[in-house]
Amino acid sequence: MKVGVPREVKDDEYRVAITPAGVREMVEHGHEVLVEAGAGEGSATPDSAYESQGATVLPAAADVFGEGEMIVKVKEPQLTEIEMLRPGQLLFTYLHLAPDPEQTRGLCGSGATCIAYETVEDSHGRLPLLAPMSEIAGKIATQAGAFMLEKPLGGRGILLGGVPGVAAANVMVIGGGVVGMNAAFIAIGMEADVFVYDRSIDRLRELDVIFGGRCSTIYSTTLAIEEMLPRADLVIGAVLVHGARAPFVVRREQLALMQAGAVLVDVSIDQGGCFETSRPTTHRDPTFEVDGITHYCVTNMPGAVPITSTYALTNATLPYVMAIADRGIAEAIRSDPGLRLGVNVAGGQVTHPAVAEGVGTSCVPVEEALGANAGDARTKQPTDGRTHRASSGRANRVSSG
Ligand SMILES: NC(=O)c1ccc[n+]([C@@H]2O[C@H](COP(=O)([O-])OP(=O)(O)OC[C@H]3O[C@@H](n4cnc5c(N)ncnc54)[C@H](O)[C@@H]3O)[C@@H](O)[C@H]2O)c1
Repeated sequence: MKVGVPREVKDDEYRVAITPAGVREMVEHGHEVLVEAGAGEGSATPDSAYESQGATVLPAAADVFGEGEMIVKVKEPQLTEIEMLRPGQLLFTYLHLAPDPEQTRGLCGSGATCIAYETVEDSHGRLPLLAPMSEIAGKIATQAGAFMLEKPLGGRGILLGGVPGVAAANVMVIGGGVVGMNAAFIAIGMEADVFVYDRSIDRLRELDVIFGGRCSTIYSTTLAIEEMLPRADLVIGAVLVHGARAPFVVRREQLALMQAGAVLVDVSIDQGGCFETSRPTTHRDPTFEVDGITHYCVTNMPGAVPITSTYALTNATLPYVMAIADRGIAEAIRSDPGLRLGVNVAGGQVTHPAVAEGVGTSCVPVEEALGANAGDARTKQPTDGRTHRASSGRANRVSSG
């Protein structure tokens, strides 16, 4: 299969969807990797590093989208990228469609088969392609929050860990999944007083064991959150209902309960945000204030540390990219039900129930939607380590036309 990797064009996004090691693996499986010139620059990977492992470097995104049978990216496609997709082409990237009807319409209109990293599940129901970025975003959330609490930046002017004789700050983490656990790890490391809220008692039990009692775990209810807000210096929002728009865990009127200069970090902003007053921001302009409370709502937090993020992401995505390229999407999802959950859009229709509910449309079973494109069920490529280039003949095309 011809796998295209364009340069990311979202603001302040420096990650790239493949590393030279990934190129090598793909090429050894007989695939052709087409990388846009400069795609790896932000992650300190020059074009020559890709070329030396067998990739072809193409000058422009249009070339990569034009030739690639599967486009592998990091962030959701921007409008200019959606316009370059074509029927039957595969797109594999983060999408976060539930809060984004416009992108969903665009992807349906493209006719491409769009597989979202964030809804792929493993055999335990976990999110293997979201987890590495959630680990990073969780760690950044506490770092960023600590920074925004500094007085010159509009914060309360409190040090997370305090000092001997002066109390530490209170950090609330709402949602104790991968983001929440990593945010709590850093906050505990910085010696703050940490309180983790979740709706899953089993998860709270796990966290209690993991943290060895070094933070409080609290069942998340409106009242429990309201009782803590007046004492909170930093609140990190990290809730997720798989595929769905994030629920609001702090409403606008509840901001009045908080201390002036307290900080909200909404990591769930990519799923629409879990604080009612959140709106997406960028690394260049990460915060805004509502009712005296600083809001940090960057949608691509790991993009700020691409040397860590690119490798963490591609370690997780490569086996899936390989499976799809080797087998074609129809066969790959037949043999991996968790990957099937990643297909959000196919044949012009939404195929993930939570996304359909989020954007207010109907949901069509993946296999039915893929019907027209099912011809991409490719015969398996040799995996015996022999290096050869995939044929570009019709039989190997993803598109059924
Ligand atoms: N902004 C960014 O750059 C960035 C980066 C990575 C991840 N994220 C986002 O962070 C969010 C969290 O991701 P994750 O990997 O930690 O998810 P996760 O599934 O591991 O954890 C989510 C947790 O939220 C809990 N939860 C759900 N509803 C709740 C509620 N009403 N109250 C309290 N807890 C609730 C769940 O029980 C679960 O433990 C997702 O929206 C993800 O897309 C954002």
